[in-house]
Amino acid sequence: EKGTYPHYMLKEIDEQPLVMRKIIQTYQNEQGELTIAPEIINAMNDSDRVYIIAAGTSYHAGLVGKQFIEKIAKIPVEVHVASEFGYNMPLLSDKPLFIFISQSGETADSRAVLVSVKELGHRTLTITNVPGSTLSREADYTLLLHAGPEIAVASTKAYTAQLAVLSILAEVTAKSRNYTLGFDLVHELGIVANAMEVLCDSKELIEHISREFLSVTRNAFFIGRSVDHYVGLEGALKLKEISYIQAEGFAGGELKHGTIALIEEGTPIIALATQESVNLSIRGNVKEVVARGANPCIISMKGLEMDEDSFVIPEVHELLTPLISVIPMQLIAYYAALHRDCDVDKPRNLAKSVTVE
Ligand code: F6R
Repeated sequence: EKGTYPHYMLKEIDEQPLVMRKIIQTYQNEQGELTIAPEIINAMNDSDRVYIIAAGTSYHAGLVGKQFIEKIAKIPVEVHVASEFGYNMPLLSDKPLFIFISQSGETADSRAVLVSVKELGHRTLTITNVPGSTLSREADYTLLLHAGPEIAVASTKAYTAQLAVLSILAEVTAKSRNYTLGFDLVHELGIVANAMEVLCDSKELIEHISREFLSVTRNAFFIGRSVDHYVGLEGALKLKEISYIQAEGFAGGELKHGTIALIEEGTPIIALATQESVNLSIRGNVKEVVARGANPCIISMKGLEMDEDSFVIPEVHELLTPLISVIPMQLIAYYAALHRDCDVDKPRNLAKSVTVE
């Protein structure tokens, strides 16, 4: 039930701090350590390469998940859009592990890949929000998101839950290999949950930003570098699916290779700057588009902010910034849809689970 909320989407955005705490709790053992079924960790350790298969928002979570698994557990990862995987199946490694990320656990494109890799005898893990879903039943192993039912068509809390579970999978794998991490994930995810709360309390400011940048425009661009690019892709998807504003996400460095031709007087550019290593270069990209008339909305992280920024998110561990920076993306899209009188929870032409290929 959506209770006092006008839309499920807003309720589900607001549930993110709670979901984060639920995940931390559920994946902790009595000693307070993160834990995952040993057979899943063995499957990670037995594999020489992980293949993440997903669609839409779950694919965007996979792009960030690759960073977690490669940086924390040091296993190479490829991320594939489910519907494309079958056409040009990559040359597989000797011991692949396939991870299917799916909120619903019913996405037909992902299932088609699951069926074909099972036929080849490969191991499979599904990360899903729905226990007993098709992808969960058919895979060797399942990790649950514990996000509670997601009703709004636009996925929000499932995305951040997917990132949290992927980070835990990476961490538990790394610990099993005796890698020193240099940070305590339980603690860092707790900081994330608190930061999410701060963001959920910043709705007025974000509504204002959404009105300022998106109320009249026909299009919008999201730029970022490194993981910020992946969050930009998700921001663009959220915006287009519920507000029908044509939106695209780009790597900051790719702008000058074509897309910059589309920048006109007033074109909104939403730029993410949460990574110290690319802070100056993304700001360089913002200058390039501003020189061509763009209207820049810079969303940065505390410690990296500059005077011209529109919104500053609280500081979290640099690997975990996508769990936080996506929330202004979700809220900007929500308010853009609201201001345009769109049906927020049930956008046209979309269904919550896509069970046809
Ligand atoms: C976007 C959205 C879709 C889904 C995609 C995959 O907000 O909801 O892009 O993410 O259809 O769905 P699942 O995760 O259920 O496999």
